[in-house]
Amino acid sequence: MLTKEYINKLKSNGNGDLKALINKKKDDKSILFILENLGYLPENFDESWVIDLLKSNNKRIRLNAVKTLGKVKNERYINRLYEIAKNDEVTEIRREAVSSIGRIRSEKAVPVLIELLKDYDPKVVTQAIRALLVFKGKKEIDTALKKLIKHENEMIQVVINKEYFARKNTSKDKLKHPQSYDFLKNKVVLGDVRDILKLIPDESFHLTFTSPPYYNARDYSIYPSYKAYLKFLKEVFQLTYEKTKEGRFLIVNTSPVIVPRISRQYSSKRYPIPFDIHHFLVEMGWEFIDDIIWVKPEASVKNRNAGFLQHRKPLAYKPNARTEYLMVYRKQTDKLIDWNIRQYDWNTVKESKVKDGYETSNVWNIDPKYDKVHSAVFPVELCKRVIEYYSFKNDLVFDPFGGSGTFGRTAKFLDRYFFLTEKEPKYFEYMKSFLKQKPDEIFHTKETEFLTLEEFKKTIK
Ligand SMILES: C[S@@+](CC[C@H](N)C(=O)[O-])C[C@H]1O[C@@H](n2cnc3c(N)ncnc32)[C@H](O)[C@@H]1O
Repeated sequence: MLTKEYINKLKSNGNGDLKALINKKKDDKSILFILENLGYLPENFDESWVIDLLKSNNKRIRLNAVKTLGKVKNERYINRLYEIAKNDEVTEIRREAVSSIGRIRSEKAVPVLIELLKDYDPKVVTQAIRALLVFKGKKEIDTALKKLIKHENEMIQVVINKEYFARKNTSKDKLKHPQSYDFLKNKVVLGDVRDILKLIPDESFHLTFTSPPYYNARDYSIYPSYKAYLKFLKEVFQLTYEKTKEGRFLIVNTSPVIVPRISRQYSSKRYPIPFDIHHFLVEMGWEFIDDIIWVKPEASVKNRNAGFLQHRKPLAYKPNARTEYLMVYRKQTDKLIDWNIRQYDWNTVKESKVKDGYETSNVWNIDPKYDKVHSAVFPVELCKRVIEYYSFKNDLVFDPFGGSGTFGRTAKFLDRYFFLTEKEPKYFEYMKSFLKQKPDEIFHTKETEFLTLEEFKKTIK
């Protein structure tokens, strides 16, 4: 029986034993087993038998033969691999061939790699770019690669931009990444969020989680038109972008809303808010990361089914809307998430680790919360998950549409600082009332300041 150990022994002999074995075992299964278990190749490895396998009818054998030739790292095979990269009918094998050319790390491969930059498959082009970047700095190569900034494919543009065009250190953050301004910590400011954000330094927040007003579906949100409403949200999220630290997150909780019909002769109108804001968020630089679906029990949502239940006529079907979206975005950066994590000291990372029992899927089953004063408050559990999964202890988190302040209180409970803005005096007062009414509430146990816009201006340092 063939075993990995046996193959290991034969490949190190260098005396043709492996070749003899391949000649004996002609069936695809054994050949594949041998190829897939070759591991690293010794100096004296005899690859002559691999060349024949490049013509195999079995795609997996061809793929592994190409991989093995890549490990041999011999300039002799550049043209052979180039032919495969150009002509094999299987895309995966073509990509592997380019990757194998790259592994050879030879300047002799440069002309064929430059030729492969014209390939129709963006992944082939990306492999060729990777291979050429080994020789970055050589004029011929830089010229060929820089041209790709105009490539149709966005991933290719990102790579070329990062390698050749990105301005270094464009961050305007005057503080160290984990730090935030004291005058923003645990503050609730009364006013239009746009006026308030214009006053504060760029790159102040580590995380924003918010539920914007529901267009004209609730009493506190009256806009002249849907267009005006979207323009308003665009302004808020553009400012939020500027005030967010490099590579940090924005999570927007929205759902389509219904504006009731004017009279029985008209239909009600449904506005797909999450889908309409998505494209402008991405355009302004928020990179889309995830969509989380918040699911509520059916009994807790408005019943739209009563009519249909009786008549059962197609087209008039109206499902009960049990879901809302939490759309997750990250401020654009060429740095990986790892970079953000590395900015924190070991202790903070350790203390911020998410505990067992966390939600593993993007479907979050959470009961809604009803409040006697505010008609659309976050459940604490929703805020808790967002804060724990997307921020570190002592971060500064922001909610531009503070409402009853659930996000702020939960943040404080989880040892984060918060900054909230709220336009309506009645909700601002309601948030304040948590201080007096519920002595065990978090607003009470740690200092929180409630400021008018004018008062806030005086605190800015
Ligand atoms: C959906 S509610 C948010 C509720 C909040 N998540 C909670 O847990 O209580 C939206 C809030 O945004 C506020 N708001 C609307 N326009 C605003 C603006 N321009 N600036 C600040 N707050 C605003 C509304 O008064 C309302 O309280």
